[in-house]
Amino acid sequence: MKQIGDHVTIAIDGPAGSGKSTVARRVAEKLGLLYLDSGAMYRAVTVLAIQNEVENDIPKLIGLVKTCRINFEDNGKKILLNSDDVSIQIRTPEVNKLVADIAKVPEIRNEIVKHQQKIGEEGSIIAEGRDLTTIVFPDADFKFYLDASVKERAKRRFAELQAQNVDTTLEAVETEISARDEKDTSREHSPLRAAEDAIHVDTTGKTIEEVVDFIVDQISNQK
Ligand code: DC
Repeated sequence: MKQIGDHVTIAIDGPAGSGKSTVARRVAEKLGLLYLDSGAMYRAVTVLAIQNEVENDIPKLIGLVKTCRINFEDNGKKILLNSDDVSIQIRTPEVNKLVADIAKVPEIRNEIVKHQQKIGEEGSIIAEGRDLTTIVFPDADFKFYLDASVKERAKRRFAELQAQNVDTTLEAVETEISARDEKDTSREHSPLRAAEDAIHVDTTGKTIEEVVDFIVDQISNQK
């Protein structure tokens, strides 16, 4: 088994609000790995669509995606679209609403997956999203599938939004998460599903630190 320090790939998938971004970021810090937030890339493509007013012109958007540059800085904290920092824009309600429809387009996925695989070739990585364990890194050294009940995931998102003074209700957040689950799991190309060899982690009722420790233990035990 590989040692951390060799080229190691850790992939995490799970639905919105399962805690995978926060967990992956913390594990990356603990183990000194590059953190790849794949959802941020689909969000950046959605910003590209809005900026160019091509949300409803998918062939044009595909052309733009083929020539755009999407890069991360600060170990995944900042995302640049053609050199512009779009870290704030990718989290707006407008992007939340549109992103699942943009992310289901196969030609867009192909471009983004190639880009993610290239980042993965460059060094040890922990990558999270919806198809990292199944399509992007099917041969990852470690695979995890994080999940939690819809109610728990909605509660977490609602708390985050309240902290940002976003005016919404728990019911509205739950409805949005359920709608996104439905789109992410039922789409034709690369739907969200657990890889057969992924370790399942139900994060309902668990703290972030408990999940981080569990994942770090699994990796350490299997090294
Ligand atoms: O993880 P997130 O909420 O930032 O993801 C935003 C959207 O992007 C989500 O609706 C699903 C999509 N996505 C995807 O299709 N494949 C990925 N690997 C990551 C995200």
